[in-house]
Amino acid sequence: MDLCRDVILKELRKIQGRELFTHSKATSQMAVSLAENLNIKNPSLKIDIKKVEIASLLHDWAKGFSKSKLIGLAKKYKLNIDDFELKNPGLLHGPVGAAVVEKKLGVKDRVILKAIKNHTTGDSSMSVFDKIIFVADHIEMNRDYRMVEEIRGIAVDDFKQAVIMVIENKIFYVLQKRALLHPKTISAWNAAIKEQRR
Ligand SMILES: [Fe+2]
Ligand SMILES: [Fe+2]
Repeated sequence: MDLCRDVILKELRKIQGRELFTHSKATSQMAVSLAENLNIKNPSLKIDIKKVEIASLLHDWAKGFSKSKLIGLAKKYKLNIDDFELKNPGLLHGPVGAAVVEKKLGVKDRVILKAIKNHTTGDSSMSVFDKIIFVADHIEMNRDYRMVEEIRGIAVDDFKQAVIMVIENKIFYVLQKRALLHPKTISAWNAAIKEQRR
């Protein structure tokens, strides 16, 4: 399947409700804009805009799946499920989404698949590409929370700082809910802070 924007949108429309579909499109718009800005500021990055568009459109492919479907597919595709994901299967929509778009849509590109896999928890190994999807998901234009406007502005001027703020927000959210904090989010935080100090 040739995965152009129109084909992906057609597939997404079949499996996503209106709100999620709108979020997918808005995340893509934001991700492309962040990537174009980063390419202008640092041409050596050479971020592939086409791949950014595909990864961002597909990032929540499995978001609407039920908990049991997520666990079933994770087992089917032999993904490593950790304790945190078993207790909160919603976290699996990243890794399961990556596995499903690989098997069902034939997406073989490792860069795209890794960004989809890591977009929820974050990870210490996030590339700039991964971070674009990670940040865009959190600040797309339909998102509405305290600080979102500020992070949108900072994402343009100081992308590394925006990455830190997004991870910080995610951690706050989990702490407020007194929920389990995934170790990958902690490692993403530590990696982002180390990178800022470099
Ligand atoms: Fe997601
Ligand atoms: Fe999302």
